[in-house]
Parts: sequence; structure tokens; C-alpha cells
Amino acid sequence: MKDPKLGNDVPKLYTELASWFHLLTAPAEYAEDTRFYGDVLQSKCNGPLRSLLELGSGGGNVASHMKQRFTLTLVDLSPEMIELSKTINPEVEHIIGDMRSVRLQRVFDAVLIHDAISYITTESDLRRTLDTAFVHLRAGGAAVFAPDHTRENFRSTTGCGGHDGERRAMRYMEWLWDPDPDDTTYTHDFAYLLRDSDGSVHVEHDRHVMGLFGSDVWLRILTEVGFDAEVLPFDHSKAPSGSDAAFVAIKRIQVGD
Ligand SMILES: C[S@@+](CC[C@H](N)C(=O)[O-])C[C@H]1O[C@@H](n2cnc3c(N)ncnc32)[C@H](O)[C@@H]1O
Repeated sequence: MKDPKLGNDVPKLYTELASWFHLLTAPAEYAEDTRFYGDVLQSKCNGPLRSLLELGSGGGNVASHMKQRFTLTLVDLSPEMIELSKTINPEVEHIIGDMRSVRLQRVFDAVLIHDAISYITTESDLRRTLDTAFVHLRAGGAAVFAPDHTRENFRSTTGCGGHDGERRAMRYMEWLWDPDPDDTTYTHDFAYLLRDSDGSVHVEHDRHVMGLFGSDVWLRILTEVGFDAEVLPFDHSKAPSGSDAAFVAIKRIQVGD
């Protein structure tokens, strides 16, 4: 479904173009993030960290590294992305679900929402999503949320990239811009050049509408949901210093837990 201003309800990258996702962003590119967030979760978790729920697990790129350390359960809204993730993580549990509302009726030692949290675009949906993380954590468990941007570190930028596969290849240009600095979204436009196995190339435009919240909003909602939360600075080797920030949240152990 497409609205010319709002973009697709679900980006083409997660539906009809899902099979190209690993050529846009390859699993190997997620090793540094995974190591960092895995170490943070392990150090913040009160007690052993064995089970980890990842919401918005996408193509399973983070999971392909995280599964070396923890027993994973992966949830994503897109059946196509779940199928793609299974190709590189066949041994891992996969569930189709919406991070705003899914209820698995069990708890985990840790919850991770990596870049998928960027697809949450309203404060009320952010609250619902953080609540999902809270109800799936055991007391003393830890969660990390890693939005692509916060209001403080967002800059309008362009970039390009892509990868060669065995038979197909992809290159892309991306353009991040904020049509209305007073609302809680920005626009991430992509142009994909998709080269098929027969050498033909076609071009697709895909608009991703992304959420943008200040750190104060993040910390307020995390606290209202019941977490003890703090900003987690992350100096990624491939990003300018100060351009990445995430949030780490602990589910406090209450007397009687
Ligand atoms: C950038 S991809 C995530 C990539 C992932 N970090 C990885 O390691 O492969 C974003 C994912 O968020 C998912 N997503 C967006 N909104 C969602 C929601 N409300 N509930 C669950 N998944 C959602 C999309 O289907 C997509 O697979």
C-alpha cells in the first residue's frame, strides 16, 4: 500500500524486496554492534543472561552473531523477513509478531530492539513497544533499544552502499531528511539499483518513515513503563563520534520477586 507523502505502510524492503536485504546490509556489518550490545546486556543483567528476545529481528543479521552467546527468540512483523532470517539462522526460534502488541506469555533474561525501533513513529506506539519489552523481561533482566537517531543526533545526510551476491548485486543511495522538525518522524528515502542474475538492472524507490524522539522523551517513557533507564553512548568505528546513542533499561527486582 502506498501513500505518496507517508510512503509505504511497510517498506518494499521488508515485503516484495526482502530477498535483497542482505545485499543492502550484510550480516558481517553487524558484528561490532552485536558485540557492544551483548556486552552491555551481560554487564547490566542481574543474574545469568541465557535467553534473549529480539523484537524487529529483520534479516537476522544481529542474531547471526548474538546466537553464539545466547539462546534467541526472534520476532518480526514481516513474514518475508522472518523467512530470510531463517536462511542464515535455521536453528533459532522465529515468530511473526508486532512489537507493539505481541505477548508470548513467557519471560527472558534480556530484550533487544536494535534498529527496528526506528520504525516506531508515535509516542503512544513507543510506549506500547517499551511495554512489550517490559512484560517479556524477568525481574533483574536488561533491555537495550538502539534507534538509528535521536532528536539530538539527527542530521540530514546522504550515503551509498550495497553488496555483490553470488548471482545478484545491489547498490543503493539513501537520503535522510526531516520534512517537519516539529513532529516525531523523519524520512529515509532509498533508491535501489537491483542487478539480477541475467545482468538486467532495475531501479526502485522506497520511502521509510522513521521515528525521531528526544532522549528526554525516551527516558520519560521508559521510566513510566517501569524501567530504570539511562542513555548509552556508543562510538561506532564507522560513524562520527557522538552520532550514535542507545538506551539501556533494567527491570528492577521488587521485594517479593
Ligand atoms: C532494519 S530491519 C532490522 C534488521 C535487523 N537489525 C537485523 O539484524 O537484520 C527492520 C525490521 O523491523 C521490522 N519491523 C518494523 N516494524 C515492526 C513492528 N511493529 N513489529 C515488529 N517488527 C517490525 C521490519 O519488518 C524489519 O524487518
